[in-house]
Amino acid sequence: MTDDARGIDEAGLPSLHRLGPGDADIRFDGHRSCSLGSRSAAQEDPAMAGSLACTHPLAGASFGGRIEGPGNAAALVAAAEAAPEVLPRALAKAHGLLLLPAMGAMAEAPDLLLRLSRIFGPEVENYRTTGMAPNMVHPTVPEIFVVSNTPPADRQPPPLPDPPLTPEGRLPVQYPHRRGWHTDQSYRRPPPDVSLFLAVLPVPQGQGQTLFADGIAAHAALPDALKAQVAGLEGLHVGSSAGRRREAVAAGLPPRALAPRERPQRQPVVRIHPVTGEPALYLCEHGQMDWLEGPFVGMEPGPNGAGAAFLDTLVAHLTQPQFVYVHEWTPGDLVVWDNRCTVHAATWFDAAKEARVMWRTTVSGNPGLAYAGEARSWLAA
Ligand SMILES: [Fe+2]
Repeated sequence: MTDDARGIDEAGLPSLHRLGPGDADIRFDGHRSCSLGSRSAAQEDPAMAGSLACTHPLAGASFGGRIEGPGNAAALVAAAEAAPEVLPRALAKAHGLLLLPAMGAMAEAPDLLLRLSRIFGPEVENYRTTGMAPNMVHPTVPEIFVVSNTPPADRQPPPLPDPPLTPEGRLPVQYPHRRGWHTDQSYRRPPPDVSLFLAVLPVPQGQGQTLFADGIAAHAALPDALKAQVAGLEGLHVGSSAGRRREAVAAGLPPRALAPRERPQRQPVVRIHPVTGEPALYLCEHGQMDWLEGPFVGMEPGPNGAGAAFLDTLVAHLTQPQFVYVHEWTPGDLVVWDNRCTVHAATWFDAAKEARVMWRTTVSGNPGLAYAGEARSWLAA
């Protein structure tokens, strides 16, 4: 499937150079900044005369980009819709991570989040139709997954790492000190493309951060022997509710029968990005791998097998601080990440004192040729 309107091409060709008359420009000036001007938007609507600007990398990181828009969420969404290639191209250029600050107006106008999500792919998941617990779904916009520790969602944060800080007094980011690294819905085939995460009510900075790791840079930095070992290797992913988490299997808990829609799914350890053609490590750790039959196809299974040791090695490599960005949330921040080439992890916050409300949407439809024509595993009867 090709979606030319968004400059996305499953053939793996970099479609970043296929712009026609009236399309947006993206110009990187060699100083890691770019302007994303929209000639057509500027001509059609003086309110959008200001261009979208992108700076990269994100502060304190080696990847990611920061988008500055026309000043408010409604104008930014309109500008992005007028030049729908711009933000997906910026996302690809930034190795799959964008920050759009000052999008707080979306909390009062959730349709803006939905409209912006549609720019990143052909399909935005409707959580009412995919088995999500109703208390986690926005009451009027079912494409919004509500991540909150307040009712009715009541989702609690992960525990503090042990110890809470590194020996240098820093926030732990590297596995296994930091746990919870994953890419969204990797237990599905085809897996999703992009997630958008809006800070409606974040907790104070210094807690409740979200961590992101650059799977493209991490793959490129693999020693040759490991690069050869991961080529063609498949991971076995499964949802955390399937009873196949590492701890459960290590404790000898008997496996339960899985419905067809819950069954473990093979995923390439190295995904070829369908927009840029770049290879990226595609892995999760304890919670979304199958520790009964996996974590890797064709390697010794189980929590103490050769596959487990290899996963530990790879995830520790992927989450080294030089590949990681730590996002401290400000109200109204919108972060967009590409699940095909990044992994992320949530961090602890003081849920007894702080209320947190975040909205997520999930965009799919361009997983790459490896998934062409597949039925959706999570809807299997
Ligand atoms: Fe996630």
